[in-house]
Amino acid sequence: MQAQSKNASDAYEARRAEIAALAEYCGPNDPIPTIQYTEQEHEVWQLVCGKLAACHRSDATIEFLDAAECLAIPQEEVPQLRDVSARIESLSGFRFRSAPTLVPFRQFCTSLADSAFHSTQYLRHPSTPFYTADPDMLHDVVGHGNALASKRFARLYRLAGEAAARAESETALQFIAKVFWFTLECGLIRERGKSKAYGATIVSSYGELNHFRDADIRPLDLKSLAVVDYDISTYQSILFEVDSMNQLEDTVGSFWETCDDNTIEALLAESATRFA
Ligand SMILES: [Fe+2]
Repeated sequence: MQAQSKNASDAYEARRAEIAALAEYCGPNDPIPTIQYTEQEHEVWQLVCGKLAACHRSDATIEFLDAAECLAIPQEEVPQLRDVSARIESLSGFRFRSAPTLVPFRQFCTSLADSAFHSTQYLRHPSTPFYTADPDMLHDVVGHGNALASKRFARLYRLAGEAAARAESETALQFIAKVFWFTLECGLIRERGKSKAYGATIVSSYGELNHFRDADIRPLDLKSLAVVDYDISTYQSILFEVDSMNQLEDTVGSFWETCDDNTIEALLAESATRFA
């Protein structure tokens, strides 16, 4: 029995490495590789997409739902990343680049500034369809891809990339990464008296969609966010919420649009004084 599960695990790792290798040799301007997905991979995609779509109707923000409706990602089988990318580009100007795995934050952001998002093309292990420790294509396409089909979210991703490109100090870059985490990965908007998700980590996780309202949900404020730690490997115990897309754009969009090492240092110093 143990030998069987080791063989299955080895087969999964080999398949993932095979797909990652195609991305490894794919330059930024090369066409996204075509993958011949297996029946098992199509089944995982269909199962997870079906569950997520049902949750989105009650738990995702209006801007995300509208963008998802326009993008209309196929749910019955794994789409080709190239096709989804072309559709997003026609909607918001953003496109995908194939990534072998998680890319370093600065490289990831340099790409965002160029309106390109690094996406994986492999899927999570079929034995855990509702959990993945690392980003996979379900996270990247259903979570980020749907958001990037919205011009308003796409602008925020671009601004995050441009902010990171301006940052010289590691402290500034880490703070930009933290704001990205608590907004575009895990952010909430209050709509009609209820917390709704737009962050890619939450909207692509069936488990977290069922648990995010148990978190300590706080009004988004960059100075209070600065003193909160986070762990990307588990459900979030603290989340930040805005009252509207306008507020998100005013608070976070304006921050990313104007920040530099000096303004971030000043913000962190003020935050440390206030919360000492
Ligand atoms: Fe992500």
